[in-house]
Amino acid sequence: MHEFQYRNGELHCEEVPLSKIAAKYGTPCYVYSHRTIRDHYQKLDQALGELDHTICYAVKANSNLAVLRTIASLGGGFDVVSKGEIERVVAVGGDHHRCIFAGVGKTIREIEFALRLGIYAFNIESEAELERINSVARRLRKRAPISIRVNPNVDAKTHAKITTGTYENKFGIAFERIKQVYQKASRLSHIDIKGIQMHIGSQLTTADPFEGAVTKMAPLVRELRERYHIEFFSIGGGLGIVYNPALESGRPSWWRKPQAANILTPESYAQRLVPLLKPLGVRILVEPGRFIAGNAGVLVTQVEYIKKTGKKNFVIVNAAMNDLIRPAFYEAHHDIVPTRKKPGAKISSDVVGPICETGDTFCKDRPLPRVKEGDYLAILSAGAYAFVMASNYNTRPMPAEIMVNGKRASVVRERETAASLWAPERIPSWIK
Ligand code: LLP
Repeated sequence: MHEFQYRNGELHCEEVPLSKIAAKYGTPCYVYSHRTIRDHYQKLDQALGELDHTICYAVKANSNLAVLRTIASLGGGFDVVSKGEIERVVAVGGDHHRCIFAGVGKTIREIEFALRLGIYAFNIESEAELERINSVARRLRKRAPISIRVNPNVDAKTHAKITTGTYENKFGIAFERIKQVYQKASRLSHIDIKGIQMHIGSQLTTADPFEGAVTKMAPLVRELRERYHIEFFSIGGGLGIVYNPALESGRPSWWRKPQAANILTPESYAQRLVPLLKPLGVRILVEPGRFIAGNAGVLVTQVEYIKKTGKKNFVIVNAAMNDLIRPAFYEAHHDIVPTRKKPGAKISSDVVGPICETGDTFCKDRPLPRVKEGDYLAILSAGAYAFVMASNYNTRPMPAEIMVNGKRASVVRERETAASLWAPERIPSWIK
């Protein structure tokens, strides 16, 4: 359930009309619902209630400090992939003992930093990394807690750019080799074996691939528990969200009751997985990113021009691919709605940004209400992998980020200024 709903024809985030936020803080801007983030976290937490579990929020999905603070205050842990992300967790007072550190390319500096701080575990992605972590730990006279990421070779049937659990991908260590690598780890002087990890992909919309992977992993988890007393099994993230309810049901998202949605819910996910996980007798970690934040945010933009060509109705808006790259990069669908409900017939439209690239397109030939210059539009489901993937292409300052809690709307990141973009740049004295 998310908190973006029309009331009296005005799209609200919780109690606040989006048009009011747009007028006050300018556009484009990201707007997040604090209540939705909390609600998603709590729903998943409750669904997994029967298990000894920890939710390690995938920081990469949305790393705004206010979002991280929200997760920390709910008692969550964190799945991080860089020194910078760990520093963010520390900055919000998050518990670094609940941090797991993933990623195929951890540098020596990052390993040192995490070891000194004392994180919960490194998720090892290769044998070379295992050796590197052991040698850094030896030099620092520390012991490194580790889990090994298994590539279970299960097809998650998601977008090719975000599937991770098959041998075509760079992630983890092949299922067939994993026991040997644990044996090797057990002989390394400065390694503590703590767990095992998998992550098969992102935006999964059925439980089948999870079930397949967990079933395949279960005997291995049991064996490792007997042999090395592992204490956790992380089943990764990947819970998908609804991006295109209009396509699925012929109705826009805000009419849709969450119970009616034929998608993966925390309940259906738990129903299928808990019976397989509980008997394993280890703590279960989950690493959701998109599920927590995806439908908790929108990108609000304003119509600059309507351009009608013989063939097309272009709605030119002031947000661009640099602000939200998912449509250009993954051909991802994001629902787009006016913040003020528009009656009347729909018109096939392309919503495009101002950047000189054809890829700077948010949707193509989509039936949309007839909008005009100055209208505000909300690009939905933009809470995850949205602001974090934004860039300054075209010297476009990053949009402001606003978080709403009930009747309150607070800026959680100021809009950048052009001067702040070039502040780190230098002109050498030898250029005349
Ligand atoms: N754990 C690991 C090891 C991961 O690599 C990821 C995401 C997650 C957890 C969180 O997955 P989630 O629950 O959010 O599906 N930029 C892409 C998504 C990339 C996901 C990368 N890994 C997008 O915009 O769709």
